Amino acid sequence: MTETQQNRTDKGAYVRDMFATIAPRYDTANRVLTGGMDEGWRKTAIDLLAPPANGRILDLCCGTGDVSFHLLRRDPSLHVTGIDFCEPMLAGARARTLREAPSKDVTFLEGDVMSLPFEENSFDGATMGFSMRNVVDIGGTLAEVQRVLRSGARFVNLDVSKAPSALLRRAFNLYFYGLVPLLGGLVGGSRRAYTYLPQSLTHHPNADQLADRFAAAGFIDCGYQRLMGGTIAIHYGTKP
Ligand SMILES: C[S@@+](CC[C@H](N)C(=O)[O-])C[C@H]1O[C@@H](n2cnc3c(N)ncnc32)[C@H](O)[C@@H]1O
Repeated sequence: MTETQQNRTDKGAYVRDMFATIAPRYDTANRVLTGGMDEGWRKTAIDLLAPPANGRILDLCCGTGDVSFHLLRRDPSLHVTGIDFCEPMLAGARARTLREAPSKDVTFLEGDVMSLPFEENSFDGATMGFSMRNVVDIGGTLAEVQRVLRSGARFVNLDVSKAPSALLRRAFNLYFYGLVPLLGGLVGGSRRAYTYLPQSLTHHPNADQLADRFAAAGFIDCGYQRLMGGTIAIHYGTKP
């Protein structure tokens, strides 16, 4: 194994272990840390996806299924597949299926989004929520998403982003790097994890750079919508 491959494996294992630690309280921590606003952001992301009726939708890094269940609430005719490499997060998603969508077509699979276990042109749309910062290889992930989408299908990515205003960035950083580790430690059960999560934004591309990465991966009609002054962004692109 080369040094680069080893680093990728190490970072992936670190991220997986971290989410395994916070999985049991992940949903509660999300609601507390965002004051419940994350629900509205997810709905906006799904509006931008505009999934076709009866469509097959892939929810990448599905975690406990927040985006997947929003998809099904918007349109119960959808066929949703969630994929994540952290089994305890998937266990949460499967438990929620019994409570929130017992009769819907939703499946949660263990797998790595940088190497998707699906044929080409398998899906009519794809989503990713709050995860692009965590994947080791953004370009490799975008290439995989593109491979499994059918021509004309859209990919929508919702995540924390860097606000364009320096003032807002400073205020957000106080919250994100200061308060989130404290609150995350109390509510989410792991200060270490909620210290890592904000840091994952530090070296992440800004909104324009991420849109460029979408285009470089071959997506067309790429763009993004800023929410909360740009501290949240929803990127989208279509497979040609
Ligand atoms: C912050 S959570 C987001 C979960 C969910 N999408 C949401 O909106 O709440 C990030 C998720 O990405 C998963 N993840 C990170 N890298 C991954 C990879 N390479 N392949 C699959 N899952 C990955 C983690 O296991 C974790 O469940």
